[in-house]
Amino acid sequence: MKSGDNVARLFVCAAQKDEIGRDVAKALKLELKKQGLKNRLLDGEKHKVRVQTCNCLDLCKHCKKGPGAALIIYPEGVAYGDVRPRDAAEIVHEHLGEGRVVKRLQLD
Ligand code: FES
Repeated sequence: MKSGDNVARLFVCAAQKDEIGRDVAKALKLELKKQGLKNRLLDGEKHKVRVQTCNCLDLCKHCKKGPGAALIIYPEGVAYGDVRPRDAAEIVHEHLGEGRVVKRLQLD
């Protein structure tokens, strides 16, 4: 794969009864734009960042019991739970920008 083909993907569960997953995905896209992080550096290589909604991620406890949505970031495979639109700025800045996991939202 050429380095220009690398993609980082954020999959946001949108299987909840309300619109929270879609709202989280929208907020993440907005933050990527605002923070100029549509591309990120990972292990010294440029990755395009794509945010997508998806069906159930099998982390339902964090979608159905909490007020937020579950999401997974690849290629790392880090999962976050109970994410709300207001958490988007921190996930984008810390995880994608600085390469630091947002511990308070991370799922084991
Ligand atoms: S409903 Fe979101 S992970 Fe299952």
